[in-house]
Amino acid sequence: VSPLRLGIAGLGTVGIGVVKIVQRHADLLSVRSGRPVVITAVSARDRTKNRDADLSGYAWESDPVALAQRDDIDVFVELMGGHEGAAKDAMEAALNSGKDVVTANKALLAHHGQQLAESAEALGRVIRFEAAVAGGIPVIKALTEGLSGNAIRRVMGVMNGTCNYILTRMESAGLPYETVFEEARALGYLEADPTLDVGGIDAGHKLAILAAIAFGTKVSFDAVQLEGIGKISIDDIRRADDMGYKIKLLGVAQITGRGLEQRMMPCLVPSSSPFGQLQGGTNMVLLEGDSVGQIVLRGAGAGEGPTASAVMGDVVDLARGLRMPTFGQPAATLADPVPAVASAP
Ligand code: NAP
Ligand code: HSE
Repeated sequence: VSPLRLGIAGLGTVGIGVVKIVQRHADLLSVRSGRPVVITAVSARDRTKNRDADLSGYAWESDPVALAQRDDIDVFVELMGGHEGAAKDAMEAALNSGKDVVTANKALLAHHGQQLAESAEALGRVIRFEAAVAGGIPVIKALTEGLSGNAIRRVMGVMNGTCNYILTRMESAGLPYETVFEEARALGYLEADPTLDVGGIDAGHKLAILAAIAFGTKVSFDAVQLEGIGKISIDDIRRADDMGYKIKLLGVAQITGRGLEQRMMPCLVPSSSPFGQLQGGTNMVLLEGDSVGQIVLRGAGAGEGPTASAVMGDVVDLARGLRMPTFGQPAATLADPVPAVASAP
């Protein structure tokens, strides 16, 4: 049986996590996939950097586009990040040279998902991105597979581990923002540009992707009404607590009289509620379907192991030959999104 050959671009928190799983679970992956899963080549910016894995058996490419075009890979695994430049160029190169793609890059999908999905489908290729939303929680698979018999009514969730970590640690440990922020960095939660996290932008990217899948619309990050946690002080957190509430960066996408509304902003939730009790880098997503009712998925939303776990779920799906359209239905059938509702002054 021919192996599924991976080219991994990006050897940071997530990329090294993927390398470790492929090395640690070679037998398990082979049995579950029906064929061996191997890494052929890797890419990052700095070849001399000390990384927490043995990369000596893999070819090195300094240019991720060159990696994407290699004849000895079947799947291009994009774990660099960024919604323009190298990641986009390399993903397009991969699709154009007949490779399927696995990515954790929500920024790229939130901004260019429609175009990439159309390209992939025209070329007969597949893009998988379970790791892009809610880290280790298989929420994309829940929507596109398990709930595909439902009309989705609502998607709601805490989807940024960094923000939840900061808000809960500031309160529970009484630690200042700066200390807690560095803890989140050490845990591998942060984006390369952490303003994406605390500005609510990263969570907004995730909500836009989930909304597209749930409601069959083109991904529209511009339609997400957005506010980050930058203005939340320790006093706000304490006052909310005194009244029996927690402050959470909560996203909601649902159909209202005005169409599909998407909001990601700090909200008060009852302390005793499941959202109120969510600690640390944990994410939680509530999905509401017309037949199933409400289901809740909860787990680690960021970090090396959980995110690499989601990437590998996609890799195994591809090894098994599962070839779903990017957003769960053909890109050409996705409806135009509804513009953002104007923010309150
Ligand atoms: P990271 O630790 O910053 O690693 C990024 C890697 O990409 C580094 O190895 C870097 O090379 C490489 N890279 C960046 N630009 C490159 C370029 N132009 N050419 C070649 N290599 C380049 O990032 P990460 O946390 O692993 O995140 C990777 C992706 O996963 C992002 O899209 C992020 O949003 C997403 N994600 C992350 C998490 C998480 O918990 N960290 C969770 C879900 C999704 P050097 O090492 O040489 O600098
Ligand atoms: N920076 C992101 C977070 C990583 O904190 O949730 C996971 O997408």
